[in-house]
Amino acid sequence: MEFSQEVKKATDPIYKKISKVMPEIEWSIHAPYIHKINKLKKEKNAVILAHNYQTPEIYHGIADFSADSLALAVEASKTSADIIVMAGVHFMAETAKLMSPNKKVLLPDMKAGCSLSSSITGKDVRLLKEKYPGVPVVSYVNTSADVKAETDVCCTSANAVKIVKSLGVKEVIFLPDDYLAKYVASQTDIKIISWKGICIVHDQFNEKEINNIRKNNPGIKIIAHPECQQSLLDLADFIGSTSKLLKYSQTSDCSKFIVLTEPGIIHQMKISMPSKTYLEVPGLDGCSCNECPYMRLNTLEKVLNCLTHMKPELQMDKEIRKKAYLPIKRMLDMSK
Ligand code: 13P
Ligand code: SF4
Repeated sequence: MEFSQEVKKATDPIYKKISKVMPEIEWSIHAPYIHKINKLKKEKNAVILAHNYQTPEIYHGIADFSADSLALAVEASKTSADIIVMAGVHFMAETAKLMSPNKKVLLPDMKAGCSLSSSITGKDVRLLKEKYPGVPVVSYVNTSADVKAETDVCCTSANAVKIVKSLGVKEVIFLPDDYLAKYVASQTDIKIISWKGICIVHDQFNEKEINNIRKNNPGIKIIAHPECQQSLLDLADFIGSTSKLLKYSQTSDCSKFIVLTEPGIIHQMKISMPSKTYLEVPGLDGCSCNECPYMRLNTLEKVLNCLTHMKPELQMDKEIRKKAYLPIKRMLDMSK
């Protein structure tokens, strides 16, 4: 596609915002897609919801709303658009469908899964419920609709502790993230029965490397997503959802941070606070391999394709949808 004068004029204001994190040569490849997608969006009354880990060209170029999983779910229920394109992963598109069943929900690449979501099935939850009768099931939103359909209440990284505490019980089944379950347990007196799911991204951070960076950067603050394991969370100055990490990095007095979450979030930090420094940590094998392979499946080309052909469209069984909506609705009511 051509980087014409028309495209340049229409997209220059966007490039101004992100020029600090993207060379002009790269922009000239993205800009024609961005221009076309933004025109198509209007024609088709579509909205693009993007998760905080998306690349700068998606996040700043075409997204109408970008946030963490909790805010994306809320936004999906509020939008007046006919079509929702989820620039995120499959469970986020499913959640959007649960919130807005009459809208067409498109996911640019149906293979955009999640290691947590694929670690457990609805059948596994039924077996757990047989083993622990009467114990409420709290499922992380990073689960399939099948799992949510067997769940009492959902939670996200932004409200997990609050949801578990507000159940007012002595014991809960918390799934599927074993690390998040341990984090919740560390913040409450409630007995947590967990599942052995992990996020393949947050499991990669190299503790030795973190300590080295800290030694060489006195005063640096460590900010971490609660999907990290406890030994890393113990090092953190602040723990929160992707949106909370972003906000903290903007409002904190500190000017240097080690960011323990998917590095896709760092471009926004750099754009909103250019005077601050945000450091990534190499993966366990010493290379920088903490990118989420599923989130990275979203590209401008795939978004353009799905808006042009109105597929791939997320499909969901009606009965599952009705059941899976309830724990999401409970979560939103409880987190008000
Ligand atoms: P947030 O809800 O914090 O955005 O996290 C979603 C996720 O998949 C993190 O890996
Ligand atoms: Fe799933 Fe981890 Fe990717 Fe988030 S970063 S979508 S939890 S695999």
